[in-house]
Amino acid sequence: MHWCRCGVLLVLCVSPLACLMVSSCPSGCCCPRSGLLVLCESLGLRSLPRSVPLSTSSLLLQENRITYITTGALRYLGNLTRLDLEYNQIRAIQPGAFQGLNKLEVLTLKGNKLTNLPQNLPASLMHLDVSANCISALDLVSLSSLVNLQVLKINSNCLRSVPDSAFDTLPRLRSVNLTNNLWVCECDILYLYRWLLSGRMKMATDLFCTEPDHLAHRLLLDLSVMAICPHVLLPKTSVHNDASPKTLKPPTVSESVLKTSQNVNDKVATRLVVDDSVPSLTKTRIHPGHFTLEIPAICPQLIQTQVWSTLKNAESFHREHQSNP
Ligand SMILES: *[C@@H]1O[C@H](CO)[C@@H](O)[C@H](O)[C@H]1NC(C)=O
Ligand SMILES: *[C@@H]1O[C@H](CO)[C@@H](O)[C@H](O)[C@H]1NC(C)=O
Repeated sequence: MHWCRCGVLLVLCVSPLACLMVSSCPSGCCCPRSGLLVLCESLGLRSLPRSVPLSTSSLLLQENRITYITTGALRYLGNLTRLDLEYNQIRAIQPGAFQGLNKLEVLTLKGNKLTNLPQNLPASLMHLDVSANCISALDLVSLSSLVNLQVLKINSNCLRSVPDSAFDTLPRLRSVNLTNNLWVCECDILYLYRWLLSGRMKMATDLFCTEPDHLAHRLLLDLSVMAICPHVLLPKTSVHNDASPKTLKPPTVSESVLKTSQNVNDKVATRLVVDDSVPSLTKTRIHPGHFTLEIPAICPQLIQTQVWSTLKNAESFHREHQSNP
């Protein structure tokens, strides 16, 4: 998209003088359509341009050398719907950088040097392209605010797995590209595996494992749950209390048998132990089979909910195993 190079500029703006007369166009940029469109591609910019017209709806900054996006830098551009920062060298985006961009729908950060998803992305966002960076983890908090997100491109990054429930909070999502990441085909990837199998949206499903060694170059979806995570099929639940028992009065532990299910050979009781009597307890670890969940034990309600969902997962894996041995 280099259609506003100087030659074209003359055509678009009738004369360079007309272009200059458009109010406060950042130097070197082109601002056709009365500043609704601000084109600053390939100008060697090292930071965001100053004096971008407040009316700007599309700001295109691809192929520059921008390294940081700071809080407040874009704050006044409340009418911005499209921001293109493709192929810069952005390493960091401050948490407040997109504050005030309440109409932003399309954000392209492809081909930068990000290692995390930007925080506090506007809820208005519909299309997010962060492909070709080195994002190594998906932050659930950042993702969960994106209630309008329809297209997510996060291919060619450094993801090793996706946290449980990552995509469950994105009701409008219809297209995701996750190819070309560093998928580790072990227990932690089961959420993604099952989500892909549910096949609810248009997406590339050719995700290759990079680890463990014996599964390298295998297609994730060609593998069985058993091959990915043998332990998940043996749900044994126990609780470890991290706090020292000496400094606390003995906890009253309420124990309930939630579900008893029949394994192929032996009876496996899936048990839940919830300690709701010790408010100073910092962490409760729950190990259903291979999973480890660390939960701040501030709110017993939370623990209970979390444990339930963990156990439900364990149960359904268990069922899967029984129906497809
Ligand atoms: C933003 O858009 C609204 C609605 O189109 C318009 O009324 C307002 O003047 C615009 N703001 C600026 C600063 O141009
Ligand atoms: C997903 O991204 C890869 C590059 O990593 C690209 O080749 C492929 O066409 C994309 N697939 C879709 C469905 O967009």
